[in-house]
Amino acid sequence: MSRLQTNIGRIRLKNPIICGSGEHTMNEAGIRAALASGAGAVVAKSTNESAAAKSQLDKTDYRVMDDAHRVLPWDFNVPREATLFCRSGLVQQDFEPWVKQLLSLDKLAEASDSYVIPSLILSGLDQCTAYAKEIEKMGFRILEVNIGAPHGDEAAKGAIVLERDAGRIETIVSQLRDAVKMPLWIKLTGQSEDPAALAAAAQKSGADAVVLMGRFMGFMPDLETEEPLLNTSAAIGGGWALPLTARCIALARKRLGKDFPLLATNGARSGLDVARFLLSGAAATEITSLVMMRGYGALTEAIDELDAYLAGRDKTVSELLGASADRLQSYAQQPDRAGFWHQFAPPTSPSAGVAPA
Ligand SMILES: Cc1cc2nc3c(=O)[nH]c(=O)nc-3n(C[C@H](O)[C@H](O)[C@H](O)COP(=O)(O)O)c2cc1C
Repeated sequence: MSRLQTNIGRIRLKNPIICGSGEHTMNEAGIRAALASGAGAVVAKSTNESAAAKSQLDKTDYRVMDDAHRVLPWDFNVPREATLFCRSGLVQQDFEPWVKQLLSLDKLAEASDSYVIPSLILSGLDQCTAYAKEIEKMGFRILEVNIGAPHGDEAAKGAIVLERDAGRIETIVSQLRDAVKMPLWIKLTGQSEDPAALAAAAQKSGADAVVLMGRFMGFMPDLETEEPLLNTSAAIGGGWALPLTARCIALARKRLGKDFPLLATNGARSGLDVARFLLSGAAATEITSLVMMRGYGALTEAIDELDAYLAGRDKTVSELLGASADRLQSYAQQPDRAGFWHQFAPPTSPSAGVAPA
């Protein structure tokens, strides 16, 4: 058995690196390239019934920024840690032809021990449920439903629904669960006071796994033009988000139990980051911005990096799962280091300081 193998409830993946949903999984060529990268699964670009969500795709725009918020040329060779700031919309193709195409790609995926996962973004709950039933009837093996897309508050009313209320999440997931028996992964927002509570609501209502956590919305002034970058607020994610997502995963593991499958998204930029998410309790990681910024080969690189890390420690993915999260302590449990803080005396210039021992 490969050390990379992972289980998401009833689903076994050949490795925990999933190509996340985005513009790079919006057509056949993109999905084929993602499968060829060796990813354990590929989540297709999301769809729903809203005409406004489809036309929002034509207003899509992106900027890549470095650590100092400087805009970088988008040449697919930007540093892995770069931040992607963007607006996005949904698949413009109609539902029927889109999922028909995805089904043939899922057959292709099956031949390489992978999956193509259709993704719905909530607009109307009844239509979302009808689509979920159709997806199950067609023979797909997994369904992901995103009810926490960051653009929800900016999109036309009802086009992309962003749920932050545990009660609403129970209503939505229960209705979907009653409608389909297939593995149902629910993707949730990070823009909530307590994402673990939202995950608990999804678990209670019958989700097979939850994906944590959607990106945030940001605003970035341009120092040259003094205009807002992209003219609007936009979704933002970067390597900086990893500790935020990792904590969210670790808290969800504590609250939902070690056996409930958690998937990470938001912040992974390498195979070592996938290891960090495994240690936090995520059985797999959905990687998106890295592929948008550096191409599909970034997935292969991440798989190789994770494999080398595991080989170096003679461990498997399952042995890593949750290992750090289960050792997470409270502030109160920390040893007394009385006096340590007295040593902090920031210098008047960066070079003059002496770090505390
Ligand atoms: C340009 C772009 C488009 C995206 N489109 C979708 C989408 O259609 N459906 C969805 O569930 N997530 C979508 N996402 C969110 C990503 O799948 C992923 O959850 C998020 O970017 C955080 O992961 P990352 O740090 O690897 O980018 C999109 C992200 C980006 C950057």
